Amino acid sequence: MKIIDTKSEIENQLQGYRKKGETIGLVPTMGALHEGHASLVKKCVAENDISIVSLFVNPTQFNNKEDLRLYPRTPEKDYELLEKLGVDYVFSPSVEEMYPEEDKRVFDFGQLEKVMEGEFRPGHFNGVAQIVSKLFAIIKPDNAYFGEKDFQQLAIVRDMVRQLFMPVNVVGMPIIRESNGLAMSSRNQRLSAEQRKNASEIYKVLKESKLLIGDYSPAELTDYVTGSINNIPDLQIEYFQIVDGDNLQQVTEWSDSDYIVGCIAVFCGDVRLIDNIRYK
Ligand code: PAF
Repeated sequence: MKIIDTKSEIENQLQGYRKKGETIGLVPTMGALHEGHASLVKKCVAENDISIVSLFVNPTQFNNKEDLRLYPRTPEKDYELLEKLGVDYVFSPSVEEMYPEEDKRVFDFGQLEKVMEGEFRPGHFNGVAQIVSKLFAIIKPDNAYFGEKDFQQLAIVRDMVRQLFMPVNVVGMPIIRESNGLAMSSRNQRLSAEQRKNASEIYKVLKESKLLIGDYSPAELTDYVTGSINNIPDLQIEYFQIVDGDNLQQVTEWSDSDYIVGCIAVFCGDVRLIDNIRYK
């Protein structure tokens, strides 16, 4: 496995494979890797001739400086895991390498970016689109892998690829959970043992809510989930929204769509966690 930190070097390395018609897979990450990332990487290694994982904590997608500062960074551990998983290249550039000048591009994802994370983290998805478009431009992957935990991010990346005619197949992969049900996230590292236990209740409430869809309207279920989460010590809900899985707009009736997902953001202490559950 080669670790590369410049754009020109990774481009040089990849040219030969592309000429030979070999397929290139990319897993974009911000490091602090966990089992969720590992599932994306395993799929990437299995489906492509050459697999690349990028490790880059992207400053433009953080709307909170403290969150950026506290974001866990564990490069040595990450390299060890990626080597074991059979990755060919790790691309871990510096901020100066990726942003030699300010990125002034403004993307427009319409209604997709106006709800949920878009509403509570202004500018977040513009930053995600800036970095993912740069990574796609440098690596030119055939396939790129993203987790469904970041459900809205996946929809945004798919929309970017569609809008810009990017020749990349975007693959979404199911959420991987800890044994107590907590969705795997790099941010979980910042939770105390007690907070981790309380945070595991998020998925329990989501699973319970799925059993109630016959009796509750989406609005009633939203109240149920919000109330239940806010009753758990350490947890404070930021939003819970029941949306059409394709356009991310809120549904008012279960018959509004054949693809309905409940998306949640919760603060556990000062750690912000997101999760989702598919209802239909
Ligand atoms: O999901 C993440 O870790 C990040 O948002 C991504 C896609 C690597 C872009 O920085």
